[in-house]
Amino acid sequence: MSSVKPVAGAGRFALYRDPQPARVASFADDVRTGLGMRPYTLMPKYFYDDLGSALFEAITHLPEYYLTRIERDLLATYAPDIVAAFGEPLELLELGSGSATKTRLIIDAILAGQDTLTFHPIDISPDALIESSEALVASNDALHVRAYAGDYFGLLRAKRIETRDRVLALYLGSNVGNFEPVQARELFGLLGATLKTGDGLLIGYDLKKDASVLELAYDDPTGVTAAFNKNLLARINRELGGDFDLRDFSFFAKYDERDGVVRSHLRAGRALTAHIPGAGIDVSFEAGETIHMESSYKFTREDMLAVVAPFGFAERRTFSDAAGRYALSLFIRS
Ligand code: AVJ
Repeated sequence: MSSVKPVAGAGRFALYRDPQPARVASFADDVRTGLGMRPYTLMPKYFYDDLGSALFEAITHLPEYYLTRIERDLLATYAPDIVAAFGEPLELLELGSGSATKTRLIIDAILAGQDTLTFHPIDISPDALIESSEALVASNDALHVRAYAGDYFGLLRAKRIETRDRVLALYLGSNVGNFEPVQARELFGLLGATLKTGDGLLIGYDLKKDASVLELAYDDPTGVTAAFNKNLLARINRELGGDFDLRDFSFFAKYDERDGVVRSHLRAGRALTAHIPGAGIDVSFEAGETIHMESSYKFTREDMLAVVAPFGFAERRTFSDAAGRYALSLFIRS
């Protein structure tokens, strides 16, 4: 990475971009693909434009959406134990760091035992990376940030992350739940190849539980999650010149107990055709026809151990709240 010039940042912060962004499909390409076959599907990574990110932030404040709060509490309690599982010096890597607020708890625990720390956050949004990285280095003299903007599959595959010491990788926020099992295996395969023997991987994930609790978390009575989903149709209108009337669509989320996944959908209330010139398509809906917006997979601790074991990750410790709603599992690369 030292041969590659950072695109932004100064002093203790440098930002690097994905080497081959051209190979990654654009929003228009993915909309054309997803609405070009049935059942209609859109990709959840496109939820997070400015309004979508603000709506997600609002979701994390909902009483029904317990995930973020419990994860923050677990990190606040156990960060010292997590860090104590490793020798010094330790380097930190994070997939999908976003605003990195919870990461501070781990950063502070590491810096309690060593003089300096290099943090390697990876995120799809360069704006989020610049904002969070600048705030982190400004509030912490001992911290160096090497941020990578891009798709983490692409970055890991291209072996762009250069580390020197023992690495602790963070994959928090139940983000792993958005991947179908095949994709999750691909990601852990890449992580297994990136991390060295003795490195750590901390995964935050939502535990399997009653359908009623999960469906309330993903279809809150305030309607924030419905707005978060409808905003993706609004984004298609804004960025691709689409003519969706959001009032034609209603939102629902359903827990599939057999597969352990909450699937979120929008449903057309009447037959209609939407035009999306920016993607070069017209899309017809029958009354009642749905768009699959997102999958949010749930796991038991045993499920998660079995997902990562084939890639050389052995459980060191698992932390969860007293009610057994959410878990953090710490793995060591063997
Ligand atoms: C950010 C992917 C973890 O699936 O729980 C929250 C996104 N969707 N409410 C999740 C989300 C609806 C969230 N992740």
